Amino acid sequence: MEHTVTLNDGNNIPAVGFGVFMIPNNGPTYEATLAALRAGYRHIDTAAAYMNESDVGKAVRASGVKREDVFITSKLWLQDFGYEAAKKGIDTSLDHLGLDYMDLYLLHQPYGDVTGAWRALEEAKKAGKIKSIGVSNMSPKFWQNLVPHFETLPAVNQVECNPFFQQRELRKILDPLHVKLEAWYPLGHGNADLLNHSAIVALAQKYHKNAGQIILRFEVQDGLITLPKSTNPQRIKSNLEIFDFELSAEEMQSLRALDTGKGSHDPDAPGVGERLLNAYKIHD
Ligand code: A2P
Repeated sequence: MEHTVTLNDGNNIPAVGFGVFMIPNNGPTYEATLAALRAGYRHIDTAAAYMNESDVGKAVRASGVKREDVFITSKLWLQDFGYEAAKKGIDTSLDHLGLDYMDLYLLHQPYGDVTGAWRALEEAKKAGKIKSIGVSNMSPKFWQNLVPHFETLPAVNQVECNPFFQQRELRKILDPLHVKLEAWYPLGHGNADLLNHSAIVALAQKYHKNAGQIILRFEVQDGLITLPKSTNPQRIKSNLEIFDFELSAEEMQSLRALDTGKGSHDPDAPGVGERLLNAYKIHD
């Protein structure tokens, strides 16, 4: 049975979600999402910029899992920031997913007219189109600059996070506000140094688990929502099999010590917003 976490708006979210970043639409995302739902995942994380929302919607319908039993997240892309554009972007995501509501919708990146876009999300929440709203890729700096201008507090901030990059500074800001951190690249995007790290391999041997399961268990036990991605049916299944063992307090501490404070993505680097906008053109 999957573990759920309660958000600051009272909604529940499964602690492990299936991430579909970089899985192509028209087949591969459909297959992977269907495999995930059959393996027991009840939380799928997509985005307008992944260009695969329609396959996610199709897989949910084909799975036979009731709509209210699956938690679906998508994200508004930078091209649709600003109040008016965001209103349209939300409807386009619903249309591509083939759904009449999304469980969670995020501002994918913190650049451009973020506060205008956020107002559109707040309104869509009131209108019942979205149950929970949040942000993504907000470093402490972006959070401190932008969120004080929001009327409502985000439910989550989805950022890069794994044992080598634990986001401790950000978590000091989010924890007192009961804002949940969602981890993208939770396995370091398949980073071999992480998956083969001696501390992780030793725990994998002890608990008869694989390295990925130790990492994901660590993240969930440390209070994160984690979004592993895989297109391999066995790994899809195994990444959810983390609720039948528990790491001790000392083991948790030993994994907390792996933090280097550095990841692959720095939201504060100059020109990032522009580079991303140019890299992902999702419509004219
Ligand atoms: P694959 O799709 O072949 O399973 P992240 O979620 O951090 O982005 O990591 C995803 C990458 O890690 C993918 O390349 C995926 O490859 C691989 N991966 C997913 N689950 C595991 C696992 N349990 N052990 C090792 N590699 C994994």
